Parts: sequence; C-alpha cells; structure tokens
Amino acid sequence: MCQYASDDGAPVDWHLVHMGRLAMGGAGISFVEESAVEARGRKTYRCSGLWKSEQVPAWRRVTDMIRSFGSVPAIQLGHSGRKGSCHGAMQDWAPLSAENTRPDEPPWPALAPSPIPDSPAHPLPHVMDRDDIDTVVAAFARSAVLSREAGFNLIEIHGAHGYLIHQFLSPLSNQREDGYGGCRNNRMRFTLEVAEAVRAVWPDDLPLWWRASCVDGLGGAWDLDDTVELALALKCRGIDMIDCSSGGISGNTAMPAVPRTPGYQVGFSDTIRRKAGIATCAVGEITEPKLAETILQQGQADVIALARELMLDANWPARAARQLGIETWWDVLPPAYAHRLERREQVRALYAERDDADMDEQDRLLIESS
Ligand SMILES: Cc1cc2nc3c(=O)[nH]c(=O)nc-3n(C[C@H](O)[C@H](O)[C@H](O)COP(=O)(O)O)c2cc1C
Repeated sequence: MCQYASDDGAPVDWHLVHMGRLAMGGAGISFVEESAVEARGRKTYRCSGLWKSEQVPAWRRVTDMIRSFGSVPAIQLGHSGRKGSCHGAMQDWAPLSAENTRPDEPPWPALAPSPIPDSPAHPLPHVMDRDDIDTVVAAFARSAVLSREAGFNLIEIHGAHGYLIHQFLSPLSNQREDGYGGCRNNRMRFTLEVAEAVRAVWPDDLPLWWRASCVDGLGGAWDLDDTVELALALKCRGIDMIDCSSGGISGNTAMPAVPRTPGYQVGFSDTIRRKAGIATCAVGEITEPKLAETILQQGQADVIALARELMLDANWPARAARQLGIETWWDVLPPAYAHRLERREQVRALYAERDDADMDEQDRLLIESS
C-alpha cells in the first residue's frame, strides 16, 4: 500500500513502523508498496522507488526487520507511465503544475505508449520510442537486482491499475502502430519483455509474481479472456503467480464496473487458476477469516492478500487463526507476545474448568506467571 512518505524513493522511519505492524501481526508475506523502477516512474514526489544503489541500505533496514518477525520481505516494482508526475491520493491525483511543485524539481514528463492523457486534467504524456522502451525494460531488471541486494525474497511486478504496463495492454491507452500496438500479441510485447528481463536476473529459486488488472474497469476493453492469455504467456516466462486485481483504465464501452462486494475479484482468480493453470492470489474486500479460508479450500486461489483491513487491524492473521480454531493461534505473533497470550489462554481454560478453591499448587504457579 503506497504511503507517499518516501524520501527520494527511499523508505523512512514511517515505513519501519508501518511494515513492522504488518510483519509483527503474522502476515506470511509482507509486501512493501509499489516502488518505481526509475524516477520518472513515480506517481508523486514521495512515492517509493528502487532505481539507485543509494536507496538500498534504507530498504535493507526494512527487509531485515520484516525477516526478523518470520515474514517474507516482498517488493512490488512498477512504473506509473502516464499516471506519473502528480500529487497523491489525498489530493485526488491532481497533476503537478508550475505553481505547486518543488522549486528544485519541476514536474517531469510522464511516459505512455500513445499520446493519450490519463484524464483531461493530465498533460499530454511523452510517447515512448524504441529507446524509451528499452530503457524502461532495463530499469525493471536493474531494480530487480537492487531488490535482491536490499534483501527482498519476492518480487511482484505491477502490471495493473492503469500504470505503464497496463497502459500497453489495453487498446484504450495503446494505439501504437508499431510492433508494440495493434493486435493483442503486440500489446503484450512490452509486458513480456519486462517479465523476461526481470526473470533473467532474479534467482530461479525465488518467486516472481505479477499483479494484473484482470479487466480494465468501467467502460474498458481489456477483459478476462485477455488476462487468461496473458497469464499463459507469463507462465511460460517463469512468472509463478498471478495476483488478480482489476481496474485503472476506463472508457465508453459496455464493460461494467466491478462491484466492490466481499471477495469481488475471487472469480477472476478462480478463472485464471483453472484456465491458465497457474497459481493465483485473491485480493479485494476479503476481511472475514471464514471467507478467506473458504476461497483457499475451494481452490479458487492459492494465496489471500489483504490491504485496507490490515490498516485497521494489523494483527488480522492472529485473529483469523483464533477465529478459525487453530489451537496455537498465538504462534503467528512474535514470541514475546505469543508467550503471554498463551499463558492467558491457559489460565482462562483453568478457570473454565474449576473454581478458585479447587486450584492446586501447580495451578496457582501458572496463574501467578500469567
Ligand atoms: C492506501 C492504499 C495503497 C495502495 N497501494 C497499492 C500499491 O502500491 N500497489 C497495488 O498493487 N495496489 C495498491 N493498493 C490496492 C490494494 O493492494 C488492494 O488491491 C485493494 O485495496 C483491495 O484490497 P482490500 O479490499 O484488501 O483493501 C492500495 C490500496 C490502498 C488502500
């Protein structure tokens, strides 16, 4: 989850606390936010990034901390494309303009496959030529190398939400007439080049995930059949998991909006898992442990991801384990927490069994230590 708190792309104390809450709460994998593979690929001044070695030590602090809690440190690498050079979510993504930019850093030209702005409020993006494409593909690979140096064990490439990779995929944002536009295979070319370049430098024994917008969004054009084809092509290039999201590019077609009901993207995950034969991650309004467990048990996804609910309750994994009847649910928390919670459970069980008057010496010692 983007925090808009980074300093020249590098994480700060806020990230240690924010990610620390998630890792301590028992998340199996702790994903840091989308991080730009080059400075032009940031959305805002304060987006995080990993495009130069000076950023590595700050990320290393974060990954060491995540690992110390028994969670896997993971990073999402991305490029905002035509959605770049703007203010953050809290200012509704207003484009940077001469009046409201940093004196030392003017708005930067956002990149795109075609001269189509993200919205009428955005300036015309710079259309990527062949050199730009090669530069960005190389930036993804370099960022993957830096991710390893920074101690990450898992990379997810952000191919969703209307950012650069998605902009190449959708015919609404890609109207190129060269080998990167036109038919679906051509529109997939940039995506597959990024996948190949990252897989070539990322260790074979470490997982590489892909976040996809399984459908464009309201009035969009890229649909679930397209994503199944994409997933098959990504699988051949060594992508291990499709993280099934949606939205980010809208137009005027009949494509409906994706409803935001519990588990609203699970159907995408289920279809891709079955039709492309690749592992999937389900995300989106999955807040009830029973729903999460059912999705896994029914084989609709291999992994469950949570975002907003963890801001409310970073200990959700422990709460879920307790609610689902895992006997030693406290073990997903760090030992200093787990120990005392276990004792509390033992004492509660004791009182449920007998009255104070019936306690023996051993019972009293346990109560005293709780
Ligand atoms: C504050 C915030 C920041 C987000 N940043 C990212 C991001 O960096 N990369 C990404 O793929 N999705 C991002 N998302 C989307 C979430 O990963 C997730 O797909 C979405 O919120 C739906 O899941 P949820 O219902 O569990 O929140 C963000 C969501 C929020 C609320």
